[in-house]
Amino acid sequence: MLDQTLDIKIERTENSRLSSVDFDNLPFGKVFSDHMLEMDFKDGKWQTPVIKPFGELNLHPATSAIHYGQSIFEGMKANKTESGEILMFRPDMNAKRFAESCERMCMPVLSEEMFVELVRKVVEVDKDWVPSKDGYALYIRPFMFATDDFIGIKPSDTYKFLIFTCPVGTYYADPVNVKIEEHYTRASYGGVGRAKTAGNYAASLFPARKGQQEGFHQLVWTDGVEHKYIEESGTMNIVFVIDGVVVTPSEDSDTILRGITKRSVVEIAQHWGIPVEERKVTVEEIITAIKEGRVQDAFGAGTAATIAPIAKIGFRDEVFELPAVETRELSEKIKNYLSDVKCGKIADEFNWCVKV
Ligand code: PLP
Ligand code: COI
Repeated sequence: MLDQTLDIKIERTENSRLSSVDFDNLPFGKVFSDHMLEMDFKDGKWQTPVIKPFGELNLHPATSAIHYGQSIFEGMKANKTESGEILMFRPDMNAKRFAESCERMCMPVLSEEMFVELVRKVVEVDKDWVPSKDGYALYIRPFMFATDDFIGIKPSDTYKFLIFTCPVGTYYADPVNVKIEEHYTRASYGGVGRAKTAGNYAASLFPARKGQQEGFHQLVWTDGVEHKYIEESGTMNIVFVIDGVVVTPSEDSDTILRGITKRSVVEIAQHWGIPVEERKVTVEEIITAIKEGRVQDAFGAGTAATIAPIAKIGFRDEVFELPAVETRELSEKIKNYLSDVKCGKIADEFNWCVKV
């Protein structure tokens, strides 16, 4: 729809890799579609976006993003309906969050219309890469980084915005075991935790590896001041069902990523008349509720992770088993609802999907 004003140059590949991909056995994030979009920001404005064969980037060694981390990204998905239509899930939300990340990281903001249209176009060009198998999707990775070749700390004057896509299978094949982290901090008040910026993930690697060495897939981050409040997990927001109430850390704090999957979970639960509490959640109340057998469900919510049941929670020297995954009625129902909406199998009551 923006094509008249937004001129997109398209160079199609002559060597599609499509036939070499096993669409019944897709890993997560290792298979890349034929094309990518690249758009430069220079002289104070965005240059013509180009969709071209997926390939390497040629970068100056002083590229400032590599040294100082002015780099942000998004993660979103598109699915195929039974009739072959392609649906993007809530791309406007990713556009808004991307714009917020741009602001926080001193990067030029892309309008919501432009972001969504560029994503739509990339998906359209590689529409044959959208998997149709249940639970699979086309993962879309828009990202932007600073490209000034300059040794000094200042916001870059030039940037690259890119989008590539990956047909993907599941991110977590099994229910996850998480450990409540009380020493390391993902994000501090006034920091960049709410932005989807590269450094947040770099900073989490060392503590996450320690957790993995202790047998946990992921950490549950707590607040950086007292380590008293639950924030989120490494790749997903976190949701509990306690005494029939959906309880999840509120996003008022600027330390938590405002997840689109979590927002959808909250909206679905409210729509179904299930009580939802978005508020500060203490570690203590969760551990007490688990001990008292009042936690019926706990799951992560994220684009890559989808709805990921949490099997065990480690806290200090103890590991708490949560109810058997087969008994998790609510998260199972929400997971199926979300997946059916995304694939056009049921009515899109919230108007979340955007046709490509
Ligand atoms: N929290 C973190 C740190 C994440 O990386 C993600 C994934 O994007 C999420 C939460 C979930 O956000 P969303 O549901 O928008 O994918
Ligand atoms: C996502 O769910 O899109 C994420 O960004 C999580 C991870 C793959 C970094």
